[in-house]
Amino acid sequence: MSGLKTRRHAMMLGLAAGALAAVAPSFAQDAPIPARPFVEVPVAHPIPRTAKPMKIGVIGSGNIGGTVGELFAKSGHQVIYSDRDDALAKAQAARVSGTRAGTVAEAIAASDVLLIAIPFGAWPSFSKQYGASLKGKIVMDPTNSNPARDGEMSKIVLTKPSTGEYVAEFLPGVKLVRAFNTSSYASFAKEAGRPGEKMGIPVAASDDATLAIGVRLVNDAGFDAVPVGGGLHGSAKFELRGPASGVKTAAELKTAMGQ
Ligand SMILES: NC(=O)c1ccc[n+]([C@@H]2O[C@H](COP(=O)([O-])OP(=O)(O)OC[C@H]3O[C@@H](n4cnc5c(N)ncnc54)[C@H](OP(=O)(O)O)[C@@H]3O)[C@@H](O)[C@H]2O)c1
Repeated sequence: MSGLKTRRHAMMLGLAAGALAAVAPSFAQDAPIPARPFVEVPVAHPIPRTAKPMKIGVIGSGNIGGTVGELFAKSGHQVIYSDRDDALAKAQAARVSGTRAGTVAEAIAASDVLLIAIPFGAWPSFSKQYGASLKGKIVMDPTNSNPARDGEMSKIVLTKPSTGEYVAEFLPGVKLVRAFNTSSYASFAKEAGRPGEKMGIPVAASDDATLAIGVRLVNDAGFDAVPVGGGLHGSAKFELRGPASGVKTAAELKTAMGQ
């Protein structure tokens, strides 16, 4: 086992310490990703309107992109859906009122923030094609490695300090914020805007200003954002299937992450 791999495994064990008793929640990703058409899970609760609408481009308009894009749109953000399959982006735009569809390049050019919800294994080719046009932009990253789908990338990520820092390697010059990776799209649709204590969502980012925007957007979508410090390395505290995964309140999340 390489030194890096050893460190990564030691870190994962450290993070899981005290939480090993928790049963890993079940995720939509544990099952095969549903084929098109996108299977809509209705948004169960009203989402309050944001005071600060932004232009948000969704790249990858499948389960997570379609659903989180919908939550942003319901809160009053201007959402443009895109996908390498134009028909899927158009279908999402037709489904979610107030949104529109465009090409990936149009979404990048037109948006303040990009939610990039593509398969993890697509990062290298996506970066080659669009990396230069993303420089200086804010990117929200919900992507997780799935060994059944993402091949070699799923092995390499285990040698990295965190998934967020690995994704950052494909997005030089981008202000990166990691969120919406710890539960399933169905949970996000069902829990967003729920009455009483909101569902907590951990957020980490490459810098403080980007973290503040990420926190605001997660709150706008109907959740209780839990900012995690330490730059993108903070995202190591909320890897998929770690102690912070699943549907939790903000208080439960903080306990799970040792905050
Ligand atoms: N599903 C969940 O509940 C969930 C929860 C948390 C995080 N995530 C993460 O979110 C990401 C998306 O998952 P998902 O379930 O939403 O997957 P999905 O339903 O398959 O949607 C991903 C979409 O991105 C498209 N795509 C692939 N490469 C692209 C590119 N270069 N440019 C533009 N679009 C591209 C895919 O097209 P093709 O089908 O043609 O490849 C597909 O339409 C994954 O990394 C996943 O780990 C998923």
